[in-house]
Amino acid sequence: MDFVHIATPRADFSDIDLSTTFLHQSLSTPILIEAMTGGTLFASKINQLLARAATRYGLSLALGSLRPVLEDPSTLSTYLIARREAPDAFLIINIGAAQLLKGTPNTLSVLETAASKLEASALAVHFNPLQELIMPEGDPVEMLPTSERISEVRARLGIPIIAKEVGCGVSRETALLFEEAGFDAIDIGGWGGTNWALVEGLRAGKARDLIRSEAAASLHLWGIPTLLSLLEVRSVVKLPVIVSGGIRSGITVAKALALGGDLVGIARPFLKAAATGEATLFQLCERLIFELRAAIYLTGGRCVSDLKQASLYLDPSLLQLLKTRGIELVR
Ligand SMILES: Cc1cc2nc3c(=O)[nH]c(=O)nc-3n(C[C@H](O)[C@H](O)[C@H](O)COP(=O)(O)O)c2cc1C
Repeated sequence: MDFVHIATPRADFSDIDLSTTFLHQSLSTPILIEAMTGGTLFASKINQLLARAATRYGLSLALGSLRPVLEDPSTLSTYLIARREAPDAFLIINIGAAQLLKGTPNTLSVLETAASKLEASALAVHFNPLQELIMPEGDPVEMLPTSERISEVRARLGIPIIAKEVGCGVSRETALLFEEAGFDAIDIGGWGGTNWALVEGLRAGKARDLIRSEAAASLHLWGIPTLLSLLEVRSVVKLPVIVSGGIRSGITVAKALALGGDLVGIARPFLKAAATGEATLFQLCERLIFELRAAIYLTGGRCVSDLKQASLYLDPSLLQLLKTRGIELVR
């Protein structure tokens, strides 16, 4: 898809307003640094840098899975540093569906402590069946959420719960299931960005697990591309949606917002930049924000919600694909 260019901007570039709301919270930008890390000394340094960027540029921040804390509670400090550096950020904590849905009573009490100490704004539960399949130490178990379990978790933590994929996307059917189970929002985590079949396939190769490393080569194309997943999800649910998976520029952030996303998540580019240093990370944030404001300016808008009215070119093959699933384009 592409935006139709508007040669007559309706606002000064300096007046373009990026503020938005997500899960009833006011945010200065619709950009989320996606869940990546925690649990080690290096992770702590990365979380510190990401949190500094979140504060400086008004981004939301998701932390990596709390699984290491389930195994060793002392590792919680590698996450707490993020809240210290970003006292006002919308902060999302994270746990795997495999750990949460079949978790012991200890799982909930660890999450409760983490949510309270981190003053978490929301919990994301990641569904990563393909990754668990290829990961040498993976746990490819049933991951069917029930409304009883989700209500129990929400009652204990007192924060909204987001259902999140990590690179294979969410279909219309899965979105309906997440809604029925009582999730408050969906992070579509579509195909086209960080590819867990390839990442875990490399690790499986190093572990001399030939079946998994070869299967990874066959499965790396498996998944619903981010754009399609967004249209699938938006065609059936009104829940707030985070768009993630392969978002690499502010223009793509704008496209995700134009097609019904509420918040747009980016992972790997932030990690790569943070690993280089603070200056590179800040430069990435500035570029993303500049490009997003440019897309609003050049489509004749003044603010984020104007993107939903922007005129678009849509690839006929995309519309054809949607037709085979009986999906109408909903904006
Ligand atoms: C190094 C790394 C670690 C990640 N760890 C987690 C995690 O702990 N929990 C999670 O839900 N997603 C995790 N993700 C997935 C991201 O949050 C995101 O959904 C996915 O990478 C797609 O975004 P991208 O294409 O911008 O990287 C991780 C991604 C990366 C690159």
